[in-house]
Formats: sequence, C-alpha cells, structure tokens
Amino acid sequence: MKKILITGGAGFIGNNFIRYVLKKRKYRIINVDLLLFPSSFENIKDLMKVENYKFYKGDIKNYKFLLKIFKKEKNIDGVINFAAWSHVDKSILKPKDFIETNVYGVFNLLEIQKLGFFRRFLQISTDEVYGDLPYDTLDKFNEDSPLRPSSPYSSSKASADLLSLSYYKTYDLDILITRSSNNFGEYQFPEKLIPLTILKIIKNQKVPVYGNGRNVRDWIYVLDNVRGIMKVFEKGKSGNIYNIGGENEVTNLELVKKILYFFDRDESSIEFVKDRPGHDRRYSLDITKIKTQLYHKNIYDFEKFLKRTVYWYKNNLKWVEKCLDQNFKKYHLQNYNKRI
Ligand code: NAD
Ligand code: DAU
Repeated sequence: MKKILITGGAGFIGNNFIRYVLKKRKYRIINVDLLLFPSSFENIKDLMKVENYKFYKGDIKNYKFLLKIFKKEKNIDGVINFAAWSHVDKSILKPKDFIETNVYGVFNLLEIQKLGFFRRFLQISTDEVYGDLPYDTLDKFNEDSPLRPSSPYSSSKASADLLSLSYYKTYDLDILITRSSNNFGEYQFPEKLIPLTILKIIKNQKVPVYGNGRNVRDWIYVLDNVRGIMKVFEKGKSGNIYNIGGENEVTNLELVKKILYFFDRDESSIEFVKDRPGHDRRYSLDITKIKTQLYHKNIYDFEKFLKRTVYWYKNNLKWVEKCLDQNFKKYHLQNYNKRI
C-alpha cells in the first residue's frame, strides 16, 4: 500500500483531503500538523481509530523533528504540503510567522526530499501568487502568468513555489505545484469570509465587508480542490504547476448577500469597514491545463454547496465556539480580535 505524508492535515483543506483519500483510495496517510487552532484536533479526533491513518503533532519548521518522522515511517511515496499560515489579514499584522512556516518549512521538506526519504513532493499554493486583475477586463491567470504577490502571505507562498521549482531543476527531484482559488466548505476556520459571515448572522451582528465590497473572488467547493489535488498528485507531470479554480467569480458583496438571503436577512445587516491594505481587486484562474491534460472537471454546484455549508455551520456551532473561545484569545493578535 502506498504511503503519503500530509502536512497541515488538521486544517480546513488538509482535513477534507484526508477524509476524501481514506474514503476513495487505498493509501496509508501520515498527518503532521502543529495544531495551531484548538479546533484542529477536534477536526481529526475521530480519525485516530482509522487503520490506515497516523497523526504526529509537530512543526515543519523543525528539521530534526521531520527527519525523525521520515526515518521512523520509512518508504514514504510522497508528501503533500498543506501546512501554512493561511490568512492574508494575519500576514499583514504578523508576517514573520508566514515567512518561517511558509518558506522555511518548505525548505526543510525539500531538503529531506533531496536526501531521498520520499519521491514526489506536491506543494499546495494559491492563486494569490499572481497578484490581482483589474475589474473591467476578462483577463485570467494561467500557469505562465508572472508572479506579483501583494501581501506577506502571498509573497511567502510565491517564494515557496520558486524554491520548489528550483529544487526540481537543480536536484532533479519530482516536484509539482497546485494553485487554487478561494475554497469554501465544512471545517473552515471562522476567520475567513464565508464562515465569518454565517457566524455574524447567527449572532445577530453586522457582517463586515471590506471597502466597497466590489473585490472579486473565484470560489471553489473544497472537495473540487481536493479532487484536483489528488489528480495532480497521481497523474501530474513533474516540474509542472496546475491551476485549480472554481470558474465561479463573485464580488464579496454579492456573496454576502447570498448568505444573508439564506437567513431571510437583507443588506441592512452589512457594515462596510476599513479596507484591507493592498486588497487585491480580482482573481480569475484559467484552468484549461488541468482540464485538458488531466481531464479534471469540477462537479460541485456553487449555490447548492454554499447552502449546504451554511447548514453545516448552523449544525456545528459547538465546533465554531471551540475555535473562537480559546483560539482567538491565545493566538490571534489583539488588533485582529477587534474585528470579531
Ligand atoms: P488552515 O489555516 O485551515 O490550515 C493550515 C494547517 O497547517 C493548520 O492545521 C495548522 O495547524 C497547520 N500548520 C501551520 N503551521 C504549521 C507548521 N509550522 N507545522 C505544521 N503544521 C502547521 O489553511 P487551509 O485553508 O486549509 O489552507 C491549506 C493550504 O492551502 C495552505 O498552504 C494555503 O496556503 C493553501 N490554500 C488555501 C486556500 C483557501 O481558500 N483556504 C486557497 C488556496 C491555497
Ligand atoms: O485566493 C486564495 C486564498 O483565499 C488562499 O490562498 C488563502 O489561504 C485563503 O485564506 C483565502 O484568502 P483570504 O485570506 O483573503 O480569505 P478571506 O476569506 O479573508 O477573504 C476573502 C475576501 O473577503 C477578500 O476579498 C477579503 C474579504 N473579506 C474578508 C473578511 C475576513 C471581507 O470583506 N470581510 C471580512 O471580514
């Protein structure tokens, strides 16, 4: 049985990925996560008794720790790196964490690959590395578009992409990259727009929309990204980058109004707040490559799964409270707390 090591598998996408693979494939999964959020352990608790799954709490910044795991586990076929500090707002307030994990952590994994401890490395990246597009064009980013990251988060991810590609070229290692657009779905930490909006509505509080709400994001249901990642891991060509987008562009204002509608609320529940510094205007991914070369097709309808996500949060308020209670006090910067 093939063995893959997932980093960041207690987070939003990694957790959804592990559940998908355990259900659909025959792989042994090793999950390495620092459990930055108290909700993280909650996310993976029920997996502990699953036969083909093993969890290690640890930090990808810690080279010695990683080496120990790779020596102990032996014969790992591939590594998929989801582990990262992932929120743009936090990166603006505290960039150091982002550079340390998102760049130096990736460097550690690449160094271990160079020693021959595993064959294939898939780096999970983001559409944000391309920077933004103007509002009034139909332009899209393809995999050859220049990298023009705007935030400390996106520049840390772009750095990791470049480092990975340099290891592919210089050391002839088997390395790939996926760049996806904004994911939504179950288990997303309620600092991000969709779960935050749902939570604010449930609590009868105003929904904060940055600036004028015209910014456009291309939303993809998390399981379509997970399916794309698996396709790339199993069938992708080494040295290649694959965009994974939802082909579903919506302004933030439209999106918030859609969620308000599920609760029978109107625009009066919105509060336009100070804009995010350096706020990217529009993201749009050209996903021709993954469609034509790997025959990947999105299967989850946006409206239907947005509604399902709203119900999931409504039915999992205990999980949400757990995220907020301990986590926001402990880890998330004083300024950030003011928004919540
Ligand atoms: P998340 O914040 O929910 O999860 C990240 C996980 O990484 C957490 O469980 C955290 O504990 C872990 N982690 C952080 N630092 C670590 C470290 N030093 N060592 C070990 N584990 C560590 O993020 P997510 O939304 O699931 O994103 C996963 C990946 O996908 C990230 O690399 C992100 O850049 C990328 N991505 C996310 C989206 C999105 O819309 N969420 C879109 C494109 C790309
Ligand atoms: O594009 C992919 C990226 O999507 C990923 O690489 C990141 O890991 C992921 O976190 C996400 O990026 P952001 O960190 O920008 O997501 P967020 O949900 O915070 O913001 C989405 C949009 O909503 C953005 O235009 C800012 C806006 N927003 C966000 C919040 C939290 C608001 O208007 N109000 C808010 O309160």
